[in-house]
Amino acid sequence: MTPNETTIPEPENLLRGNEKYLDNALRPSTWGDYIGQEIIKENLKILLTAAKARGQTPEHVLFYGPPGLGKTTLAHLLAKENGSELKVTSGPAIEKVGDLASLLTNLSPGDILFIDEIHRLNKLIEEVLYPAMESGNLNIIIGKGPSARTIQLDLPPFTLIAATTRIALLSSPLRSRFSGGTFRLEFYTDSEIENIIARSAEILDTEIEKDAVKEIAKRSRFTPRIANHLLKRCRDFAQVNNTDITLDTVFKTLKLMSIDEAGLSYSDRKILDVIINKFSGGPVGLGTIGAATSEEEETIEEINEPYLIQLGFLERTPRGRVATKKAYEHLGLMFPKIL
Ligand SMILES: Nc1ncnc2c1ncn2[C@@H]1O[C@H](COP(=O)(O)OP(=O)(O)OP(=O)(O)O)[C@@H](O)[C@H]1O
Ligand SMILES: [Mg+2]
Repeated sequence: MTPNETTIPEPENLLRGNEKYLDNALRPSTWGDYIGQEIIKENLKILLTAAKARGQTPEHVLFYGPPGLGKTTLAHLLAKENGSELKVTSGPAIEKVGDLASLLTNLSPGDILFIDEIHRLNKLIEEVLYPAMESGNLNIIIGKGPSARTIQLDLPPFTLIAATTRIALLSSPLRSRFSGGTFRLEFYTDSEIENIIARSAEILDTEIEKDAVKEIAKRSRFTPRIANHLLKRCRDFAQVNNTDITLDTVFKTLKLMSIDEAGLSYSDRKILDVIINKFSGGPVGLGTIGAATSEEEETIEEINEPYLIQLGFLERTPRGRVATKKAYEHLGLMFPKIL
């Protein structure tokens, strides 16, 4: 059975237009095409096979980790491999208890419900989700005051897949209900990213030199979405200049994009620069960094910090963020000697 996917449209998805279409084209749809995250894949395969053997729906799973590492892709893949229909929604799209109730009661047996950005689900709605996840019941209160009564509906067996970039914002009762497992997506290795770029170039029907693949990979923040994004921009540059994607194309394209040889963007460099030059290398709090760089705290925490920490340019201490010797060296600055 080919799974049909029902997407509840969200303005930002509709707005992304062409880029969105390309994202879908590049999105792996078999376990084999999904490169890396081997341990997660192994766990999920066991979860699906065991549930199938018991004639049950797989248990609920939660994916978390920085943006662009493949959480949504995994949800689609899991549904496809399980032959299930995937219903897609997100935390902010479920505004009222009634929204969730109608989503749940419209599920068919064996469906998979994917809730993206689950950390943005409001607490009242979370409470309705608990019994639905645990025992397949939906408890709805009808009426107000003394005449209010609860009706209980039995839901068809379903699997909930949730994704978040901010696991710390999830309440522990919610976290504990993902009985199938909670999986943290890791940054990819350079060679995994190289494989992803080579695969995407083939799908886009673009010629790319080997050292160009390596150079894009090096600057991709260990993240498939960025790798595909940089590849697409290099392809545009090559197309306009009537060449294949060569090392020179990559250098020129990324220079235009202000992405340096370590993959740092303008805002990454600004953050390091502020910590080093305004606050003597730190420690300095996130709020202060946000104010000094005019970047949103949430963006710094979600996008910039994980990569800077992964590169060893930034450390998180109880007293705030500290720039490391490597960060000074990268910016061409002298690391102060401790007296
Ligand atoms: N393991 C992988 N192998 C190949 N391509 C991948 C892999 N993971 C992700 N991608 C590519 O990266 C893109 C981004 O992945 P995805 O949308 O699943 O990330 P995400 O973790 O859901 O991000 P966000 O937190 O922003 O929602 C996908 O369109 C896909 O093309
Ligand atoms: Mg996603």
